[in-house]
Amino acid sequence: MAVERTLSIIKPNAVEDGHIGAIVSRFEQEGFRIVALRMEQLTRAKAEGFYAVHRERPFFNALVTFMTRSKVVLMVLERDSAISHYREVIGATDPAKAKDGTIRKLYGKNVEENAVHGSDAPETARFEIGWFFTGFEVA
Ligand code: CMP
Repeated sequence: MAVERTLSIIKPNAVEDGHIGAIVSRFEQEGFRIVALRMEQLTRAKAEGFYAVHRERPFFNALVTFMTRSKVVLMVLERDSAISHYREVIGATDPAKAKDGTIRKLYGKNVEENAVHGSDAPETARFEIGWFFTGFEVA
């Protein structure tokens, strides 16, 4: 098993609802090492660039508006098979379809306000980590 890194975002709804501690704690219990962590209110430009692959989707503008409405928590997490394990822990994109006990089932409201983001592949993770963190911060 290879050690990997993934970008995690605790989204505005979960921050507003007071779930930062529970979510970070769950990641640590799942064996993730927190390599970097920062709280930040995203600008539209930063959110639009991050979600550029979704630019043509009908939900793009609403997603950017949601992601910029209040602060998020940005984290770089590391462990064996981090990307696939993280996706199991957070559950399906739509909280209504996520398995019991997953973070999106516990703290998500709907497909947009789904509590957390995670990278979906190693190349995506590299881009996403580099979008928010400098090389020095993740060294
Ligand atoms: P995330 O993991 O942050 O990656 C892209 C996001 O787009 C996704 O989580 C959802 O929050 C959002 N998304 C995906 N599909 C839809 C949809 N049909 N309607 C609204 N938002 C969506």
